[in-house]
Amino acid sequence: MTTSDKSANANAAVSARHAHVIGWGMAVPETAMTNDDLSAFVDTSDDWIYARTGIKQRFIANEGESTATLAYLAAQQALEVADILPTDLDLVVVATSTAENIFPSTASLVQDWLNAHEAGAFDLSAACSGFVYAMNMAADSIRAGSIDSALVIGAETMSRILDWQDRSTCILFGDGAGAVVLQANETPGGVLSSVLRSDGAGGDLLAIPSVGSIDANQSRAGANGYKLYKMYMAGGEVFKFATRVVSESVEQACKLADINVEDINLVIPHQANLRILQAAARKLGIDSDKFMSNVERYGNTSAASIPIALCEAIEERRIQNKDHIALVGFGGGLTWASMVIRWGIPKPSEQHGSLLNRQRRHVQYRIAKWRSRSRRWRRRVNSRVRDLQS
Ligand code: UT7
Repeated sequence: MTTSDKSANANAAVSARHAHVIGWGMAVPETAMTNDDLSAFVDTSDDWIYARTGIKQRFIANEGESTATLAYLAAQQALEVADILPTDLDLVVVATSTAENIFPSTASLVQDWLNAHEAGAFDLSAACSGFVYAMNMAADSIRAGSIDSALVIGAETMSRILDWQDRSTCILFGDGAGAVVLQANETPGGVLSSVLRSDGAGGDLLAIPSVGSIDANQSRAGANGYKLYKMYMAGGEVFKFATRVVSESVEQACKLADINVEDINLVIPHQANLRILQAAARKLGIDSDKFMSNVERYGNTSAASIPIALCEAIEERRIQNKDHIALVGFGGGLTWASMVIRWGIPKPSEQHGSLLNRQRRHVQYRIAKWRSRSRRWRRRVNSRVRDLQS
């Protein structure tokens, strides 16, 4: 049985439940850094960066901002649009390469801050493809019936792992977060298909040598002249890989969804480089206007770039009910992933954010703080009492 047959069968087997996007939100740091700001301390120029990448500026986290704080803000917005309570969530997934810690996961922090105490939480590592991977995991769990609602987040603080002396990478990336709420519904549509792929043989083209078996990584990083905890990238090779897999995997996802590439109303690709998107549009034979691009304002925000672009596409009214949209990510691993969604929000009312629910959400955010503190305090008291008794 081929992979396509397996996926088609899986789709058919669970067709009674559909996973729909019912909420979305995004957050970026307060401070923007323009190409001119960068060229004050890196040997580069606005002309070079804009001509080669399409980037004009990116946002950079300040001391108080982190992957988790940005993810939390994006998540709050997504819950607001979905008009559900944090306690309605069954799952929180954060796709990231710049997690707050190895563990606890960034997803667990966000789950706690939201007071989503009925939800499981984990981080997902698939570099810039992570958001599409996470959407696939959440949508499949919904369609299989193991959960009803999921919060899927892509969040990064790339500025923390950049080598600011390496002009071939530090000019490309930025910080930010985007989130969506997926929910089960009987209305046909929502996530129609996904294609996930990896080529680990290309792992040396794009990486952050860091955690895990640290001694092994330390010698690997040293031997190749790479710095530990800093990103390195063979840009030209990654560029060629990206232009090939974007078109290929969008075609595959369309085939699985039983639609033609021409039926796609908007492609929302990972925002790495405007030239990659233009080349991929040419290969697919579709108008480059159908490729959403906001790389000019945010740079490459890795796993956050697709949900941020999705939010802006919705805000700009580039997505209408019943439209087919394709998400496509590519990056370290190497990994790549595509997904076709039939847009349509199966809600009784188009009026988002009822006042009562908004108040209930804010009460839950307040409770979250006290709940965490009181649980820690209780644990400390209990352990002190046990010490005294023994
Ligand atoms: O999100 C994960 C996926 N990532 C990507 O998809 C990134 C894919 N790669 C790229 O977007 C492009 O390869 C880059 C934007 C990284 C580089 O663009 P390029 O057109 O491939 O440039 P290049 O690396 O071939 O460099 C051309 C020249 C070199 O100078 P020489 O050797 O021709 O004298 C570089 O040293 O440009 C020089 N250069 C720069 N000059 C000014 C490289 N970086 C810079 C810079 N400013 N920042």
